[in-house]
Amino acid sequence: MKVDTLILGAGAAGMMAATQTGGATLIVDHAARPGEKIRISGGGRCNFTNYGVEAGCFLSENPHFAKSALSRYTQWDFIDLIDRHGIAWHEKTLGQLFCDGKATQIVDMLRTEMTQAGAEFWLSTEIGEVHHDGTHFVTTLTRDGRPRQVAAHNLILATGGLSIPKMGATGLAYRIARQFDHEIVPTRPALVPFTFTGAALEPLAALAGVAAPARVTTGGTSFDEALLFTHRGLSGPAVLQTSSYWAEGQPIRIDLDPEDRIRSALRHTRQTEGRKSLSAALAPHLPQRLIAARLPQASTTRIGDQSDQALSEILAQFRDWHLTPAGTEGYRTAEVTAGGIATDGLSSKSMESRTVPGLYAIGEAVDVTGWLGGYNFQWAWSSGWAAGRAI
Ligand code: FDA
Repeated sequence: MKVDTLILGAGAAGMMAATQTGGATLIVDHAARPGEKIRISGGGRCNFTNYGVEAGCFLSENPHFAKSALSRYTQWDFIDLIDRHGIAWHEKTLGQLFCDGKATQIVDMLRTEMTQAGAEFWLSTEIGEVHHDGTHFVTTLTRDGRPRQVAAHNLILATGGLSIPKMGATGLAYRIARQFDHEIVPTRPALVPFTFTGAALEPLAALAGVAAPARVTTGGTSFDEALLFTHRGLSGPAVLQTSSYWAEGQPIRIDLDPEDRIRSALRHTRQTEGRKSLSAALAPHLPQRLIAARLPQASTTRIGDQSDQALSEILAQFRDWHLTPAGTEGYRTAEVTAGGIATDGLSSKSMESRTVPGLYAIGEAVDVTGWLGGYNFQWAWSSGWAAGRAI
């Protein structure tokens, strides 16, 4: 069987590419259903993009690489698309856009668009070795136990990263890219909770379930969002964001009062209600369990007895908390994979290989990793669109 374009991976990026390619297109996936990560994303409502998408919200060895695709297929273009399909949506927080209903509406929309574009779609399909015979990329695709050789002028690698192997993530795109002499930026789990061990874990695990707004910093990069204590360590949006910038052995700093509001509130309480306990004075600002854990004497100490110096030391317990994670929860729970197919080898305009004409790489498989908040889907839409349009 001969096609113009073979797309490996029917996730967000592959499906978007298939809506744009001209000519005969075949899109294949080993999963029984397409876009499984879209389906489970955003708690089932898919955080499909963000009002604030810009290149600065992405990590890559080349921070400029994502600019072209992101500016040619923007968040507004995707919003237009879902509006045309009558999918209702809303902004949740920080520019994050979610479906009002189920995330599967987005999968259905992409399927409809692919069908209209004439793309053929094979699920539950195993992909064999790939080689180039001088004119075509050739591989064997096995569906229902029946192997078929397929030859394609163009091959789009869209099998994503290594995150959540249980959902069918494999390193296939990296393997094929390597085979065609493309470099792979070392991969690591990103947007992932931190784990702690031994004595460092005990105080955190004791607070499991407690959440609070915080600024979490590592290596000069900070995020102000919610922090969550877990039985294994730390999670929550601020932590997930920080994890993408974290290197093993590096400390993180937690500031539970980044706007510096508590100090003046405590001073005011000291003046007006000096008999109050420290824990009562702190209670409007911080979770009670956290106060008790960080300042065991707080319930028996009067706010009126604290000097300015003492207040500073008390606040430091919450504002200058240094911890060194033992590691992360790994690909098992990581929302994305950082690193991947090196951008040096790809055209930022078309996602085509600079050295192997007809070979393209898109989506999470490429060394472009977005922040939490809809940025990774926007990269999948933009890079998929750019490759599809170029063909
Ligand atoms: P994606 O992983 O979507 O698709 C790859 C496809 O290739 C899959 O269908 C897979 O089955 C297939 N495949 C892999 N190996 C194969 C092989 N060997 N043979 C055949 N097929 C193969 N992002 C965001 O912006 N907003 C959000 O709300 C969320 N939420 C979220 C929640 C959870 C739990 C996760 C794990 C991730 C998110 N993300 C997210 C990230 C987002 O899902 C991710 O960045 C995109 O799905 C990447 O799109 P791709 O198409 O590149 O890969």
